[in-house]
Amino acid sequence: RVVAVIMVGGPTKGTRFRPLSLNIPKPLFPLAGQPMVHHPISACKRIPNLAQIFLIGFYEEREFALYVSSISNELKVPVRYLKEDKPHGSAGGLYNFRDLIMEDSPSHIFLLNCDVCCSFPLPEMLDAHRKYGGIGTILVIKVSAESASQFGELVADPVTNELLHYTEKPETFVSDRINCGVYVFTPDIFTAIRGVSTQRKDRGQLYGFADMLSNLRRMSSFEALQYATRSLPSDFVRLDQDILSPLAGKKQLYTYENMDFWEQIKTPGMSLKCSALYLAQFRITSPHLLASGNGTKSASVVGDVYIHPSAKVHPTAKIGPNVSISANARIGPGVRLINCIILDDVEIKENGIVIHAIVGWKSCIGRWSRVQAEGDPNAKLGVTILGEAVTVEDEVVVVNSIVLPNKTLNMSVQEEIIL
Ligand code: GDD
Repeated sequence: RVVAVIMVGGPTKGTRFRPLSLNIPKPLFPLAGQPMVHHPISACKRIPNLAQIFLIGFYEEREFALYVSSISNELKVPVRYLKEDKPHGSAGGLYNFRDLIMEDSPSHIFLLNCDVCCSFPLPEMLDAHRKYGGIGTILVIKVSAESASQFGELVADPVTNELLHYTEKPETFVSDRINCGVYVFTPDIFTAIRGVSTQRKDRGQLYGFADMLSNLRRMSSFEALQYATRSLPSDFVRLDQDILSPLAGKKQLYTYENMDFWEQIKTPGMSLKCSALYLAQFRITSPHLLASGNGTKSASVVGDVYIHPSAKVHPTAKIGPNVSISANARIGPGVRLINCIILDDVEIKENGIVIHAIVGWKSCIGRWSRVQAEGDPNAKLGVTILGEAVTVEDEVVVVNSIVLPNKTLNMSVQEEIIL
């Protein structure tokens, strides 16, 4: 039997996702009309002999309760949310719940980061791992040399695929092959994590000043705070630095190359790009989820579009490509939507235009108004974002801007962050 664990993190980790993470845990933010975490969960469904899926995080249980029970029913696989009392790091979080994870005596454990957008070739990874042997296999992908330093960079043996060298977010270039944050392990991973945590307890932590500076550079603000105040606690274990780096070159870890799409989802701008990737995947895997635009009473649809069944779209509106419209949204006559995410209960009045933007829950866009951006997801303000319950009055233009919740815009703005 096999189990899958998805690391969903917690509220302190979602800060780069503001203002959208003010309302909803980032893992539940919709991409292609489905919660972010829904995509890895449905990919797990393809794993043969899957017994359970666990979500591990430090969000409140009630935030996930509804989603977890509905997805368990839908997939007919138990999905459970396990809450950490505090962040334990990506490996520490897993170790914390080892007894529950081992309940079904699984032979293999998949571990997936929640904030990656990927085709998740999980059955293929499991087959490869069975051939390689060792503790685990990591999904890797080739990226541009300039972007590699944002990720874990690694070197693998081109013939055996053994992981030879691993450095997390290195300062100087190591390799353009990076860690996708998707792994399959044997239960021996728990022994490896226990090893790190025992070593920490025994040794205490004595770093030189140069080591300390270089370590701080690689850490999240939470880790840096812990480190600066008293060094990492023994139950805080990071999968990348503490497990993958030391095990590289020891015939324990192997790599599986991802030939399909992969992106990290750290910012709202990236979520728009990832929504497009998942919509394109639906075209192959679940075409029934895409709007067809056929029929005399439906709006004209261009490219890949998701429209929630409860949304009301006027037949004279033109929608797409890459648009997803959530529950109870009302899209008026003559509206044009391109490359955007329209969240629940939004109203867009007649002849409104939204291009390269995310429109937050319950927001309202007035007649002849435009909400738009240049559309480069990597640029600082390449996507315009309206937080929850923002009102854009009639004939107002909002360009390359971020608007925090509950604001009313009665004048046009450009390149602004409206607090
Ligand atoms: N439950 C829980 N508890 N989850 C956590 C914790 C924790 O204490 N810390 C991190 N996570 C979750 C995050 O929500 C995310 O899904 C995943 O674990 C990895 O987060 P980080 O540890 O912050 O790493 P990262 O996203 O900057 O980089 C990692 O992923 C990249 C791929 O997306 C590294 O493994 C990189 O090497 C890799 O390239």
